Amino acid sequence: MSNIDNSEGKPIDISHNIPDFLVPPAKPEQLTSDEVDFYFNKIKKLVKEQNAVIVSHFYTHPLLQQLADETDGYVADSLEMARLGKEHPAQTLIVLGVKFMGETAKILSPEKKVIMPDLAASCSLDLGCPPDLFSQFCDQHPERTVVVYANTSAAVKAKSDWVVTSSIALDIVQHLHNKGEKILWAPDKHLGSYIEKMTGVDMIKWQGSCVVHEEFKAQQLKELMKKNPDAKVLVHPESPLAVIDLANKVGSTSQLLQAVKDFGAKKYIVATESGIFYRMQQAIEEVELIPAPSTIEDGFKRPAHALCPWMAMNGLKNLCEILENGGNEIEVPENIRQKAFTPIQRMLDFKK
Ligand code: 13P
Ligand code: SF4
Repeated sequence: MSNIDNSEGKPIDISHNIPDFLVPPAKPEQLTSDEVDFYFNKIKKLVKEQNAVIVSHFYTHPLLQQLADETDGYVADSLEMARLGKEHPAQTLIVLGVKFMGETAKILSPEKKVIMPDLAASCSLDLGCPPDLFSQFCDQHPERTVVVYANTSAAVKAKSDWVVTSSIALDIVQHLHNKGEKILWAPDKHLGSYIEKMTGVDMIKWQGSCVVHEEFKAQQLKELMKKNPDAKVLVHPESPLAVIDLANKVGSTSQLLQAVKDFGAKKYIVATESGIFYRMQQAIEEVELIPAPSTIEDGFKRPAHALCPWMAMNGLKNLCEILENGGNEIEVPENIRQKAFTPIQRMLDFKK
């Protein structure tokens, strides 16, 4: 447990790795093909009737990504999800992902109804950064510019100067560093270390992590690379630095997907959540995708697919239920929403 002393000598725990018992098991929905057809037909009808649009992340189940495509919705990274949800004219946004993604959509579009299949779909980075402790951490360093990763609650975003996602974090921090600003970063220690290394910025970091990406292991990855010397290695920057150091491409989900198109290789070792394999395979059919070794064994002594347990809470059944019966609307208190809006909008303006 790492502590930082505040001015009154009271320690603040910033090592918020969440305990194992708080991580739900990843349980992707099991449905027969008849059930899948049934839910597809029903959901498509309801989405149309309700003038809604599906905005999904790349980590959701392939069937949900397919459903987004077939209803003229979107499958995107977390930055694009925020932008698309705001710009789309639909009055109801169906966010398939985790709660911070739904909250970001609501913060940007308070007039819209934002719904999610399961409001308990969280993220270890969000859970590991409680707003009250984070606020005390910020108070200890009033001279620093507060930059928070999008994978946080609305209340944490409300305390920040900038919100960033993995696709834009390097550019924004480089910009702040060029202006001579010192950074307070939260919550992902691995992404923070990567940004620090790439930009040379002066940064104090919260010590959170993603329970999925943290499990990728450098030593096993090296061995896999030896067996597959022709494979390009793609790594999401929530992974430990030793894994990032082995990558041919480090980037957000959309940047890794783009790398598959750009490299034109026949084989990739992929260190990120396995939901994105569907999109990569769709982009280049003749490609071999090998999951990077993670410590989550699947019992067959081959690398297990990294699955985010909270992303796996999105399913066809619970999506259909909320469209039919209502409920699961994202709410953000107005005072928090207003404060969180500015740093998110700042990121979107920077992107332009
Ligand atoms: P992206 O911003 O790259 O889509 O990542 C979101 C996320 O939660 C990765 O674990
Ligand atoms: Fe959070 Fe990790 Fe899941 Fe992404 S993969 S939503 S960072 S727990």
